[in-house]
Amino acid sequence: MCGIVGYIGKKPVVEVLIDGLRKLEYRGYDSSGIAINAGGKIKIYKAEGKLQNLVDVLTKHTEETKTAKIGIGHIRWATHGAPTEINAHPHTCTCGKLVIVHNGIIENFKELKEELIKKGCSFRSQTDTETVAHLIAQEFAQTKDLTQAVRLATKKIQGAYALGVMHQDLPGMLVATKRNAPLLVGIGEGEFFIASDVPAIIEHTKKALYLNDNEVVTLTTEMKLIDAENKKVTPKIEVLPWEPVALSKMGYKHFMLKEIHEQPDVIRNVLSGKLYNIDEPISLKEVKLTKETLKNLHRIQVIACGTSLHAAMVGKYLIEEFCSIPVDVEASSEYIYRKNVTDKNTLVIGVSQSGETADTLTAIKQSKEKGSHILIITNRPDSTMAREADSLVPVSAGIEVSVAATKSYTAQLISFYLLALYMAEVKGSLDEKTLVELKKELIVLPQKLEMILSNKEQIQKCAKAYANHKDFIYIARGINFATALEGALKLKEISYINATGYPAGELKHGPIAMLDETMPVLSILMQGKVYEKLLSNAEEAKARNAKLIALTNSSDKKLDELFDFIIKIPEVDEIFSPVIAAVPLQLLAYYIAEFLGKDVDQPRNLAKSVTVE
Ligand code: F6R
Repeated sequence: MCGIVGYIGKKPVVEVLIDGLRKLEYRGYDSSGIAINAGGKIKIYKAEGKLQNLVDVLTKHTEETKTAKIGIGHIRWATHGAPTEINAHPHTCTCGKLVIVHNGIIENFKELKEELIKKGCSFRSQTDTETVAHLIAQEFAQTKDLTQAVRLATKKIQGAYALGVMHQDLPGMLVATKRNAPLLVGIGEGEFFIASDVPAIIEHTKKALYLNDNEVVTLTTEMKLIDAENKKVTPKIEVLPWEPVALSKMGYKHFMLKEIHEQPDVIRNVLSGKLYNIDEPISLKEVKLTKETLKNLHRIQVIACGTSLHAAMVGKYLIEEFCSIPVDVEASSEYIYRKNVTDKNTLVIGVSQSGETADTLTAIKQSKEKGSHILIITNRPDSTMAREADSLVPVSAGIEVSVAATKSYTAQLISFYLLALYMAEVKGSLDEKTLVELKKELIVLPQKLEMILSNKEQIQKCAKAYANHKDFIYIARGINFATALEGALKLKEISYINATGYPAGELKHGPIAMLDETMPVLSILMQGKVYEKLLSNAEEAKARNAKLIALTNSSDKKLDELFDFIIKIPEVDEIFSPVIAAVPLQLLAYYIAEFLGKDVDQPRNLAKSVTVE
């Protein structure tokens, strides 16, 4: 959460910083600010609210900013202190010469602040970040060396941080460091960038260095890297796997709509190189699970948050079905605060689009310490989680800009199908014929999604008809319970309508009390073993006058009588129905939010990469 960008080079710095912040807006967007060194003086510009407000501020200062060639910028998702201008980054030391931007949380900031106040520092904001500015300034006063000041000050900090630091008296130097928060250095021709994430720099360079925890990088006309003990480190320069074009809306009104439409190709992409031929085994090159390891596994734990947690729930179903290994699924934020009975005979699977979610990362580290094999399913093979992994399944969805996850969810689902089939093949738990049948179904899923995407009018109609309802209930059973949760989450996130997913059998154990003619109940009614059961649950809702919507792949005539609105999707084997059912629910949430005039790509209070616990 929060986005950092920094630049030193020959380009007009304000343009580079604003452009970078625009690409990081998905990380938070409640206030923003930049600091530059213009004519030997530190100048700071900040604004509350969206980045556009900062752009408006800067247009009044073009004369004084145009020659600056070094600067740092920040886009905030507030943790400590309200999202006001005063709390917006950058923050400075008392004299205003040292300036920093920060992403993360300083856990011991209260103690540090008390000490610093005693030493005469005067604080202006309510943020934890300002403490770090004063702390580095204190060290700088002693050492007169910005790199060392950053290195020594950060030794006193507890918590997570990525920092960009400049000093007025050193107009040709940018220093950065990190611990448990992402930060990379982009390397251009005679220029350097720092950024929380690749999109901020990909238009300028594909060469980058990912900082490891506690390393300090000093950028002047050259790059110097040291570790926490002041030892020189040789930078490991990587080529970034992203294309700048991924960051364009390509004519769609919102990134979310574009990303929903990308899903057929995303699935093809996930499958390519992993499922060559239905008669050949699945190839997951970075999965290091041997027959021996699988034989000795007592259980599997899958940990994740939000949408990734819903993909994990489908994953549990698949692994248990194909491999007969017991699987537990848990929210990472719960997993980390109870007795961890994981051991070396437990496979721990972490699922994360960003690969940076703090709770999941902590959970992974905890189980790694217990000796478990760690398998990460992530859209970011360059992320911290991927670097912690013993085995990796890259989901290959391409960069996802919209805060609400869509294509990364279906790509995670497909990754779970591949993983479960791969494990079944290694373990020998499915016969050849079944494996071939399953693979056949898997490879035709993109065509089925294309059919849904070319028949959106029915979903638009449904959205229009139901957009003004205050509450929604989504029901499903079996493998699609997770689909109900995910559909409801999408609606909540972008339209702010209260939506809840229930396993349909639970309706009569309490939630049914809420049903009346004002409550739409959406049933995810896929053909298969729970079809008739779910139909009975829908009847129970009808008897309480609820308005019934069906998302179904059945042509059953009795549905016409029972349901007020039917969204029809292609037929598919029940085991693959979560993929087919997810897309119309994403579209329904999208069209309702769009109809209500909501900020679809940047819903209030949310951020895409949740790097704080
Ligand atoms: C929902 C959404 C969030 C994330 C969650 C976990 O649309 O995007 O619920 O799924 O914050 O994030 P990752 O997958 O990056 O660990």
